[in-house]
Amino acid sequence: MPCAVKISESVYWVGAQDWSVRNFHGYTTESGTSYNAFLVMDEKITLIDTVKEPFREEMLARIASVVDPSKIEYFISNHAEMDHSGAIPFVLEKIKPKKIFASVNGVKALQKHFEGIEPLTAVKNGERLSLGKMDISFVETKLLHWPDSMFSYLHGEEILFSQDAFGMHLATSQLFDDENDPHVLKSEAATYYANILLPLSELVKKCLDAYASMGLNPKIVAPDHGPLWRSKISDIFSWYREWSEQKPEKRALLVYDTMWGSTAKIANSIAEGIVSTGVPVKILPISSSHRSIIATEAMLSGAIVIGSPTINNMLFPTVADTICYLRGLKPKNKIGTAFGSYGWSGESVKQLSEFLKAIGAELLPPEGMSVKFVPNKEELAASYELGRSVGARLLEICK
Ligand code: FEO
Repeated sequence: MPCAVKISESVYWVGAQDWSVRNFHGYTTESGTSYNAFLVMDEKITLIDTVKEPFREEMLARIASVVDPSKIEYFISNHAEMDHSGAIPFVLEKIKPKKIFASVNGVKALQKHFEGIEPLTAVKNGERLSLGKMDISFVETKLLHWPDSMFSYLHGEEILFSQDAFGMHLATSQLFDDENDPHVLKSEAATYYANILLPLSELVKKCLDAYASMGLNPKIVAPDHGPLWRSKISDIFSWYREWSEQKPEKRALLVYDTMWGSTAKIANSIAEGIVSTGVPVKILPISSSHRSIIATEAMLSGAIVIGSPTINNMLFPTVADTICYLRGLKPKNKIGTAFGSYGWSGESVKQLSEFLKAIGAELLPPEGMSVKFVPNKEELAASYELGRSVGARLLEICK
């Protein structure tokens, strides 16, 4: 029988671990994920967020292991995306909370997701609500990452419920950060940031500044996905600061697909050239690398080197998928170059260069490296030199 997990004197985790999910709206989740929901046992018993719809019975069983679910009076929705709101209709039917609190945009989003949802109360940034012995206050985090998003802060036990922020897609039986491998935590948190929050980095910086000025000192930071932070709170905040700043890093991402092996040969020569300058390279052939892994490396690398053959005057379809995804994520402060082989028309390098320009990358050289059919010795040597120029420029920038 699923049971709640006590995380502080009055708060219980009543969420669900999703060990089997491998696709989260286009983001590969090889480690599964969790949908964290929380029960606050004060005079007004309060549920914070719910779970993805298929896990609704599990959440109810966890709640019931602590209290009769019908005793819940308040429900707080920090974020209306379906992985946290999917169980709301079930909650309304089974629990019948007296009040549902959400941000102003959250109320609108919930009304659009669940027609006729009642009884909704919009809360403003900074508003404080008494639960009896403790208060909870609301911090608007508009567009992190939806317009409705907000944090809730439980005064007294000092818990920040941060919805998606500071989360990660990681199913784990160990609920707290210090019970999990620290390398996995950083890696999964980076992947989450790259795939969900990267395009919102300017807002993340503002949110971190606003949060710092509030003087809160949480003992637990409880996101809606992955482990709860209690020992490494300063680490996750400093990682968010670092990722939001997007300072160029001395590492290069080389990503490509190939039709008959020619673009792969160019890729390998460019990679050798980059490595010869002392800059590490991560080569991610698209045929064996998911776009969300590529996105993470793109965030962490100072250089994006991207290659595609030309097919029917266009990019190879897998490369088109990758750049569509990366363009939306808007990695910044990059240098880059494009390469590829072609048979007769050769549009791919131009199209990839346009992509690099669109994300504001410094191109070197502007025309990239385009090779007809199979690269010969001279063309491979030129590819190697292109790699050397990428490495040298990155070293210069990262001095
Ligand atoms: Fe985890 Fe934006 O939902």
